[in-house]
Amino acid sequence: MPRRAPGRLCERMHVPFNLAAHIDAALKSAATATGFDAAAFSPDVRAADPRHGDYQANGVLAYAKREKQNPRAAAEKLLAALPDSLREQFDTAIAGPGFINFTLKPAALLAWLQAYRDASALSAGAATTYAGQTWVVDYSSPNTAKQMHVGHLRSAVIGEAICRLLAFSGAKVIRDNHLGDWGTQFGKLIYGYKRWVDHEALKREPIEELERLYKLGNDATPEGSPELDEARRELVKLQSGDPESVALWQKFSDVSLAAFQQIYDRLGIRFDYNLGESFYNDKVERVYRELTETGIAETSNDALVVFHDEHPRFKRDAERPNPFMVRKADGASGYASTDLATALYRVEHFNAHGIVIVTDFRQSDHFEQLFLTVKKWFAKKGYRLPELHHVTFGAVTGEDGKALKTRDGGTIKLKALLDEAEERALAVVTAKNAERPEAERFSENECRDIARAVGIGAVQYADLSQNRSSNYVFSWDKMLALEGNTAPYLLYAVARVHSIFRRGQLGIPGSDTLADLEKNATPPETPTELSLARKLVHFSDALALATSNLRPHFLCLYLYELAGEFSAFYAAEKVIVDDVATRARRVLLCARTLLTLETGLNLLGLRTLQRM
Ligand code: ARG
Repeated sequence: MPRRAPGRLCERMHVPFNLAAHIDAALKSAATATGFDAAAFSPDVRAADPRHGDYQANGVLAYAKREKQNPRAAAEKLLAALPDSLREQFDTAIAGPGFINFTLKPAALLAWLQAYRDASALSAGAATTYAGQTWVVDYSSPNTAKQMHVGHLRSAVIGEAICRLLAFSGAKVIRDNHLGDWGTQFGKLIYGYKRWVDHEALKREPIEELERLYKLGNDATPEGSPELDEARRELVKLQSGDPESVALWQKFSDVSLAAFQQIYDRLGIRFDYNLGESFYNDKVERVYRELTETGIAETSNDALVVFHDEHPRFKRDAERPNPFMVRKADGASGYASTDLATALYRVEHFNAHGIVIVTDFRQSDHFEQLFLTVKKWFAKKGYRLPELHHVTFGAVTGEDGKALKTRDGGTIKLKALLDEAEERALAVVTAKNAERPEAERFSENECRDIARAVGIGAVQYADLSQNRSSNYVFSWDKMLALEGNTAPYLLYAVARVHSIFRRGQLGIPGSDTLADLEKNATPPETPTELSLARKLVHFSDALALATSNLRPHFLCLYLYELAGEFSAFYAAEKVIVDDVATRARRVLLCARTLLTLETGLNLLGLRTLQRM
């Protein structure tokens, strides 16, 4: 039988994208074939410590213990029953008391890298996970007529990354900006507007002007005053649909949204819908009715509320009973009412399989009560229950540990924050530029464009790279550093690989000339080639981890480590060598590093650069 040429593995067989899932499935069939109680066995395959291999199956141990079997013997039986194709791909070993380690063989590494040669191949590989599912992501969601604050920036940045991760993994994603555009404050705002509006200011700085008018309106209508009665009449007029009031309110929403969009544009965000709280005005009656008729809600002091007796904090006789307020005592709807209607709308109208809502941790109680209520309500009515996720994040603090504020204690305007990011990045970029040989320097305009990507990217990445559950210390110096797990470091790594292709005249990454060259590649050989190749294959694990946990920092950490592996490889090996096969496999590694870094950073919402 003729020996197979190395490196042609992918042409012979389908190369699975997610190898952990592939091993998992193979172990499950092997278990069935060897008489395991398949229902009781979960292989529990995960990425391994690289010293032991690429993947480790941990599940044999627990299974054998339960079944009173010898774990190593059970592992051996499983290994013997694995299909040849898997053995061709992996070296296997039983370690410790019964773990199974899988190490990709060099030819299998090459096959994977050749198969996943561009972003669409990667996405096609990943897309099986959420295929056919619709996910609604509710993020940013600021209140109209008010400045967006730093919390809304976090929500926007984290939410957008989650949207991209889900979409890349096959979901149909609906980006929904759940604006806070309804409530009693509009009575006072209209009162202020009618008396003191400055039309010029409203054009120039709409949100600032609306905030000023609200403040004037609020100050002029103290408790018990006839002015307050007037403001209340304005509110009633608005609520009863008076055309003039509704037109004013609409104007407030429109100018607010236009101002928000300027921030979203800089962050690469486009919402599919801006269905704010007001959209659900006519949908709350059904909520009241259904929650009452199913006995889930009850009347308490004239309000309609839901207790959750199984929950220590939300039960009737809790120390400080804090029921979920479905309808207020005065008959008005509130945050809970509209959020209940929103959940139903997302399932009935968008057919959502998953709903993700991104806000800071202080809203945890609200969403816990919301989800408990939705589960009971949907079960009683027979509505399909989607996956419900409240994605929380910690507070943003300055380096002193206190809430981030301007020097005089005011709230930070997001526009000013993003401007400052670009200005500071420009200083970094200009300094770097001065170190370049005269002939290769960027023009001032080019520097500005680079600074835009680096500055905004730094703000996004600093937020995303930390576990979102912790508080986040905002530090310009850290986020703009050229070393460490930062946007400038990773963007610079991307530009550096691009320059390898330019200087070596290797063709454009992803092009057909390069594809021809890559076909000559032999499997990775040297230690740094091997560890870079292995790291590249593990993109699928980082992606799965970040997506299924809705935690982008897993992807950030992976990209940072990948950039480190690449540096080690590039320091150890020459890429442009005469030997065709060696050169081809090293160019392949450069091309896939570039692809993975760019794909990963784009998934996080960053714009990458070819030169910087
Ligand atoms: N408007 C709220 C705020 O500014 C956030 C809304 C989040 N989404 C929701 N469905 N409640 O805090």
